[in-house]
Amino acid sequence: MTATLNKENIIGQPIDRVDARRKVSGAAPYPSDFDLPGQVYAALISSTVAAGRITRIDRSAAEAAPGVLAVLTYDNAPTLADPPTNALGSTMRRPLKDDRILHYGQHIGIVVATTRAQALAAAELVEVDYAVEEPVLDMDDPRARVEDNPFGMETSRGDVVAALADADVTVDSTYTIGAETNSPLGLFTTVASWQGGRLVVHDTTQAPSFMRKALAVMFGVPEESVRLLIPFLGGGFGAGLRLWSHTVLTALAARVLDRPVKLVLSRPQMFTSVGHRAASRQRIRLGARSDGRLVAIDHDALAANGIGDNLPSPIVAGTPSAYACDNLATHERRVHLNIPYTGFMRAPGAIEEHFALESALDELAGRLGVDPVDVRLRNYADVHPESGKPWSSKALRECIEVGAEQFGWSSRDPAPRSTHDGDWLVGQGMAAATFEFYALDCDVRLTIDRGGNAILRSAATDIGTGTYTITAQLVAELLGIEVERVRVEIGDTDQPQAPQSGGSGLAGALAAAVQDAAGALTERLARLDGRPGESFASLLDRHGLDELSANGHSDLAAAAEDSDVAPAGAFGAAYVEVGVDEDLGLVRVRRLVSVIDGGRVFNRKTARSQAIGGAVMGIGAALLEEAAYDPNDGRVANGTFGDYLVPVNADVPDIDVTFVGEPDTFNPTGSKGLGEIGIVCIPPAIGNAVFHATGRRVRDLPITLDKML
Ligand code: MOS
Repeated sequence: MTATLNKENIIGQPIDRVDARRKVSGAAPYPSDFDLPGQVYAALISSTVAAGRITRIDRSAAEAAPGVLAVLTYDNAPTLADPPTNALGSTMRRPLKDDRILHYGQHIGIVVATTRAQALAAAELVEVDYAVEEPVLDMDDPRARVEDNPFGMETSRGDVVAALADADVTVDSTYTIGAETNSPLGLFTTVASWQGGRLVVHDTTQAPSFMRKALAVMFGVPEESVRLLIPFLGGGFGAGLRLWSHTVLTALAARVLDRPVKLVLSRPQMFTSVGHRAASRQRIRLGARSDGRLVAIDHDALAANGIGDNLPSPIVAGTPSAYACDNLATHERRVHLNIPYTGFMRAPGAIEEHFALESALDELAGRLGVDPVDVRLRNYADVHPESGKPWSSKALRECIEVGAEQFGWSSRDPAPRSTHDGDWLVGQGMAAATFEFYALDCDVRLTIDRGGNAILRSAATDIGTGTYTITAQLVAELLGIEVERVRVEIGDTDQPQAPQSGGSGLAGALAAAVQDAAGALTERLARLDGRPGESFASLLDRHGLDELSANGHSDLAAAAEDSDVAPAGAFGAAYVEVGVDEDLGLVRVRRLVSVIDGGRVFNRKTARSQAIGGAVMGIGAALLEEAAYDPNDGRVANGTFGDYLVPVNADVPDIDVTFVGEPDTFNPTGSKGLGEIGIVCIPPAIGNAVFHATGRRVRDLPITLDKML
């Protein structure tokens, strides 16, 4: 029996988060809230150079310091196995592997003491000598290793060279983006303990099921002997998608001491320990007919990476599906530098791709004298441009048109520098976005008990996006019970495996698995011969059953392979108005309209919050955020909240969010996932608005005031 979502009954309703009270009352435990009996505290020893070898480590002063229980470095720590490749295709260099230093801030040891202050003080007492090498920090350094087509995702169709030569109008622009670091409020934390041979870890991770596997491999224990617990995260944005060395080192220290060990990263350590959005440089060449129709897109991307790292974070992967254009080529390279590991950061690759493509389209529109909106619509991809298959759903046209209407785009004077407001030049810009479909397989277990309550269990995480809430809504609707009767138990790897909360892929995969489980459970209940109108409680009671359970499974990626439609991710369009004070170089976002097609929206309130959060982060990417590496020693020179700027309320106007579109036809629940789409359009829309205000095209993010003077 299939359980279906055919009515807007509970699904879609903007109900408050089911965990809201726990969160605002302090009852929701974040990783750093966990304290175990007998717990001791760790501090990391980090490299103060970017490249070279460790020639000497003297632990004696640290070991003799008050309260110190252990000082582990590569030359005295037990050896671990190499970690496995994660679902996203990256591995990690085993921590404390040898004497090599690959980046500033590399964890070269861990100190454990009775108190946190003692551990931090003792970490300073470890003496380390290095044979320092000159680090490779510049993308153009001839010593840097450059990989061509590292992800095997380069594409070509038609003849882009001939089409560019033949085009009426061309654009050839290069766009650069500085490194950006995820800055969740919650400092990443690990609390590790070995309980009767079983490793139990409270860890800030978005990928509990993968972390369980990785730690099991590294510590040489069966997967069942590892348990990850992460009921609440405190913000991830992608920083929690990789296995990081601080987690491994904390678990190692706990094993050596056979005591629970707690490690909380400092804010500066967040800049070197949990990844960042790689600095990148892209060249885009567009060719068009005079009527605005694209005839050629050539997109080349180069991104920075840690030495030897293999993070699969393509930039050009989405370009081929963005617009209808017969001639297209993409090229991708990554360059290995002595920088901390890169990681994923909200809409990884898509931000970079869209900043280049959507800025270049604006440049093209200007050159053609065609409205930027019309350029998007004239090149609208009615079918998937690569496969030629119909989209499973696509309301990008509505996103663009509804946004234009809401924003009042038609009254815009197309001439740059045409609008003033006192000392401010005022400009308006827009951008559109096509987000790639992404999903991994997911398992859940659904139980109904004698009290008529449902329990949904899965190892999925809620990273603040609303997973608890939408899951409760889904179960309630599918079983026909009230939301209050649903308990969602996630963030625990003793529950059925789930994909990471990332790539905008969890909601769709989890919802499909929940629907599958609800169908199976409904079928089992039907076999109990319920009387018309009989409650679950009475039905179970009559059969002397305490509870009834069913498993659910989804594998959308497998289903996508032989689908007749092209599974779509979300689509979006954004319109922004900026004010620019040319004397001071200030750029202020004055208005922002975001329109999103996320398929079926499970909860309009949490979805809207995702769109707002994405827009705020997009303002950060466009105007404020950049991790600055000291060109001499690779140190992150601004690794604090005082120096690394993220948007505050004063930087953010009211954000107008609208959802359009229909339930998706590929995902059985109609969902497309919208955790990331809300950020994608913002940087190019702001850059385009800055151009409209000033006549100046800034092709380098963030657009800081020095670039406006
Ligand atoms: Mo996002 S980078 O998939 O958390």
